[in-house]
Amino acid sequence: MSAALIDGKQIAATIRVEVANGVRELTEQGITPGLATVLIGDDPGSHSYVGMKKKACGELGINSFAEEHSADMSEEELLSLVDRLNGDPAVHGILVQLPLPGHIDEQKVLLAIDPAKDVDGFHPDNVGRLMVGQPRFTPCTPAGILELLHRSGNPPGGREVVVVGRSNIVGKPVAMLLVQKNDKANATVTVAHSRTQDLPDIVRRADIVIAAIGSPRFIKADWLKPGAVVIDVGSNRVEDSTRERGWRMVGDVDFEAALEVASAITPVPGGVGPMTITMLMVNTLQAARTIHGIG
Ligand SMILES: NC(=O)c1ccc[n+]([C@@H]2O[C@H](COP(=O)([O-])OP(=O)(O)OC[C@H]3O[C@@H](n4cnc5c(N)ncnc54)[C@H](OP(=O)(O)O)[C@@H]3O)[C@@H](O)[C@H]2O)c1
Repeated sequence: MSAALIDGKQIAATIRVEVANGVRELTEQGITPGLATVLIGDDPGSHSYVGMKKKACGELGINSFAEEHSADMSEEELLSLVDRLNGDPAVHGILVQLPLPGHIDEQKVLLAIDPAKDVDGFHPDNVGRLMVGQPRFTPCTPAGILELLHRSGNPPGGREVVVVGRSNIVGKPVAMLLVQKNDKANATVTVAHSRTQDLPDIVRRADIVIAAIGSPRFIKADWLKPGAVVIDVGSNRVEDSTRERGWRMVGDVDFEAALEVASAITPVPGGVGPMTITMLMVNTLQAARTIHGIG
């Protein structure tokens, strides 16, 4: 067996066309969706992520407002910046790039964002809404995973899903989404983590495996049920002397071996990654529509 590849780049491109059309319709009504990105400090990874988000905005006709500040910005200054963005009518979405410098309380900052502009979906108000099945914004990576499953012809309804990882940004929200009582979800979900016993046996019963661990090639092919669908969220740098830059990205699943067992699998890169920023654009468009009472 050789698994079908679930092409995140292509699925993301399709969704981006839908978003661009939605943005055009709004702009014709005099409303241009706007996303404010807040970047504190000079972490190269964070700069690169924010750069990709700004680029995506530009390509889709979304205004982007870049707030870039030095690592010595105080918590008070950041809170007052968030407050200003909350009140700015041109800003429909606010994204504070994590992690923040150690002297700033991340939770305090995330709580300060107006939930109606919280396009990352991390505010407890939005987390609670997701849990009770009345989502306002769905966190971007979990939302992207659901789109990948549906648009690749692998709907999770009635199937057994094992999520490995219980972070607040991937594992827990994707499990919460999948267990909802609606046509997009209706899965039977198990969440595993570092204290889980007999992980291979638990993974082996999954029709769909979602790996969000942060450990290169951690999930082995012989843990997979033949024909399982594998969504690999992991994004890990490993040394590769054949590359000029000396490294390459791999996922949390032993991809080459898993190809022989799974029925479908996301590659890394090119699977979940392209979906995350795309879903941020979806959420920003939705924020603009909701704030203006449209649709
Ligand atoms: N492509 C994208 O858009 C995207 C977006 C977000 C994240 N990611 C990637 O996805 C991965 C996970 O991210 P994250 O933010 O969710 O990571 P995280 O906050 O570090 O969480 C990792 C989870 O994996 C679990 N874990 C660690 N070792 C384990 C083991 N031996 N057995 C079973 N579970 C284990 C941890 O369990 P405990 O809770 O018990 O510690 C934790 O719940 C990372 O590689 C990250 O870079 C990619």
